[in-house]
Amino acid sequence: CERQDGRPFRQRLLVVANRLPVSAVRRGEDAWSLEMSGGGLVTALLGVKGFEARWIGWAGVNVPDEIGQRALTDALAQKKCIPVFLDEEIVHQYYNGYCNNILWPLFHYLALPQEDRLATTRSFQSQFAAYRKANQMFADVVNKHYEDGDVVWCHDYHLMFLPKCLKEYNSNMKVGWFLHTPFPSSEIHRTLPSRSELLRSVLAADLVGFHTYDYARHFVSACTRILGLEGTPEGVEDQGRLTRVAAFPIGIDAVRFIGALDTPPVQEHMKELKERFAGRKVMLGVDRLDMIKGIPQKILAFEKFLEENSDWHDKVVLLQIAVPTRTDVPEYQKLTSQVHEIVGRINGRFGTLTAVPIHHLDRSLDFHKLCALYAVTDIALVTSLRDGMNLVSYEFVACQDAKKGVLILSEFAGAAQSLGAGAILVNPWNITEVAASIAQALNMPAEEREKRHRHNFAHVTTHTAQEWAETFVSELNDTVVEAQLRTRQ
Ligand code: ADP
Ligand code: F6P
Repeated sequence: CERQDGRPFRQRLLVVANRLPVSAVRRGEDAWSLEMSGGGLVTALLGVKGFEARWIGWAGVNVPDEIGQRALTDALAQKKCIPVFLDEEIVHQYYNGYCNNILWPLFHYLALPQEDRLATTRSFQSQFAAYRKANQMFADVVNKHYEDGDVVWCHDYHLMFLPKCLKEYNSNMKVGWFLHTPFPSSEIHRTLPSRSELLRSVLAADLVGFHTYDYARHFVSACTRILGLEGTPEGVEDQGRLTRVAAFPIGIDAVRFIGALDTPPVQEHMKELKERFAGRKVMLGVDRLDMIKGIPQKILAFEKFLEENSDWHDKVVLLQIAVPTRTDVPEYQKLTSQVHEIVGRINGRFGTLTAVPIHHLDRSLDFHKLCALYAVTDIALVTSLRDGMNLVSYEFVACQDAKKGVLILSEFAGAAQSLGAGAILVNPWNITEVAASIAQALNMPAEEREKRHRHNFAHVTTHTAQEWAETFVSELNDTVVEAQLRTRQ
């Protein structure tokens, strides 16, 4: 496809997500440094090449004055990022409140404690109003930058109102919406006071995507049961208009991880780690410090393993790297204290003067250190109580072609559907089962490890982030063309 001037035509992609791939950190008046943001969405989208992409998202900091906003907008423009400026009150109500205290636990089937649930019920209306307002602010920025022919790809539970706002501006906009969390059973979604508004707004998109077929099916059931609409194999129909609904499992940029392993900094870190943990099997957890990741359950299962296997006491170490996240939300603050308390207790119980069984870090690791850690690990423990996909499990597999370590993976992570045949699948709520799976992994014969790894490595290296994005965008283009043909008939 070519432009009139003969240059190849590259369709512009406007990626709209709550968080930009870089977060601004103030370094003095109107001076900013930009740091890479965390989370799976950023990792996956940064692995996608070949699109003429612009990223629209919250700047991540409060910048009340116009001069500051202009300075930050210029700094972000260098990274092809366009900021949405949200004030502190909106962030509190929309991001900390409605997104992360209401939708996030609900979509992950996590019940809030009774007193928090009552408080949430009382503040629901104001938080929902802030959510709508924030979504409208995102829509205003998209509309300002939109050019005919652009594809607008909205991401995640923060922006369920966005498709409707965008279509109200311009019904010809090609709009896709993708959810990076599970979509829960309609029985769960139906408890949400704003259940219908959210579904109707998402249905304004042309294409709606999920990581697994189950999440897509739950969404279609919610539309049939709550809105009374017709679910078809293609999606949801409302008065002759079809919204396509389908599963598009995400992946990673596997080549980036595999390629990094031979580089001097990664080799150097690997050497240090091997020396540091010589004579001990290394078990690894890498997560955002989030209640959905099942970190306390993982550590309690490790304690149970130590209780039952005294011969392993000084021969195994658990490294838990947990980057703090959403630290203004009370539930996350409670989780941090809880994890610290459990780690301290277990290290006090099983540690010696020279070694402790758990190394817990509340921080993010840079890419080279992370690759090195994945590569020297014997067993990765992914114990999410629910997880949309879980890319940590993919990254671990990508870095394990030499070692062929074992992946212990929660059956409640989306990744269980793709890596289940190679991993040991566990119910993370059952710490006895997880403890037994640690023993199984430590004693697994080399041929079995090799066979399991082969299966997962083949999946991770073929189902990549690139393929995910290309499939979604091409399906979105096709969906719009088909809809146009249908209305002309
Ligand atoms: P989520 O999107 O819920 O955070 P994923 O497992 O899909 O979960 O993605 C997490 C991403 O963040 C991965 O790319 C992982 O490498 C990165 N990450 C998570 N925790 C850390 C950490 N402590 N240090 C560095 N990177 C991390
Ligand atoms: O996948 C869930 C998600 O909300 C992503 O949108 C994001 O990449 C990640 O978690 C990090 O969350 P936050 O932006 O709230 O730090």
